[in-house]
Amino acid sequence: MGMCNLSAPGADLMLARLAAREQVPLGVSTVASTAMESLIEEAEGHAWFQLYFSGDGVGTFKLVERAKAAGYKTIVLTVDVAEVGRRPRELRHGFTMPFRIGPKQFLDFAAHPVWSLSTLFKGRPEMANFQRDGYEFDRTESRTRADWDTLRRLRDMWPGNLVVKGVLDPDDAVALRDAGVDAVQVSSHGARQLESAPAPIHALSAVRAAVGPDYPLFFDSGLLGGEDVVKAYAQGANFAFLGRNLQFAITAGGEEGLSQLWSVLRDETSITLAQIGATSLAQGPLAASLSSD
Ligand SMILES: Cc1cc2nc3c(=O)[nH]c(=O)nc-3n(C[C@H](O)[C@H](O)[C@H](O)COP(=O)(O)O)c2cc1C
Repeated sequence: MGMCNLSAPGADLMLARLAAREQVPLGVSTVASTAMESLIEEAEGHAWFQLYFSGDGVGTFKLVERAKAAGYKTIVLTVDVAEVGRRPRELRHGFTMPFRIGPKQFLDFAAHPVWSLSTLFKGRPEMANFQRDGYEFDRTESRTRADWDTLRRLRDMWPGNLVVKGVLDPDDAVALRDAGVDAVQVSSHGARQLESAPAPIHALSAVRAAVGPDYPLFFDSGLLGGEDVVKAYAQGANFAFLGRNLQFAITAGGEEGLSQLWSVLRDETSITLAQIGATSLAQGPLAASLSSD
């Protein structure tokens, strides 16, 4: 997730420390609020770089080189933001990136003094990967110029693992697999992009059927607890990612809140597996009788 430090100062680094401790990958956004070099270091290497294509792609490919130099071994190309979705809540609150302070924000700050004071002391969140010379990002710039040639170029220049995130259509997943993509991430961007997109948990089993049993398939969108994680595996995922609930935990309870959420997730997952007679998530087919609703 981009701009995590809007939740609380230092949120990115909290997530990086969690990744290091639990040995799970931290998704480092193109628009992260901490520089990609600091995050992979804090995560002790457990970090994947998420790439947005934008404009004519020149900046995009520069970021790929930079990620390589920083030691990233996995790139996740997100393809479900052809244009930034119209997000009424962001519009209502006057949210823009880079973050701009107007009269609405002053009212908001007054209503949330703890957040305002800590952010005042720690500095306002910035798109940290773009604070160096030669790196620019305009969030509103169209990303529709990315096509299959762009993917081929990325595949040719990136020797590490390449994941494509934001796939819901089984035919797309097969075409990506055949284009040399190492894993596909079924996701609807948490329904923040296209309100009418199919529910990713329903798309997942169709994508699994299309790509075959052995192709790595990842999943995110709407997983709230450990039972949901088991359901994602039951529908064919090999790995599940969590987004907003991690940020909510940080907002509510800081780094301690994040650790607390993680142990709840672990307990819920373990207890769900026990209820269905499985001893590990790898026994996914055993869980296939769980309803995805
Ligand atoms: C505040 C916020 C920022 C996000 N930024 C990015 C991003 O920069 N790149 C990306 O690929 N997805 C981004 N996403 C989408 C998430 O990676 C994820 O797909 C989505 O939140 C669904 O997972 P969840 O339901 O567990 O939150 C963002 C989501 C949120 C809520």
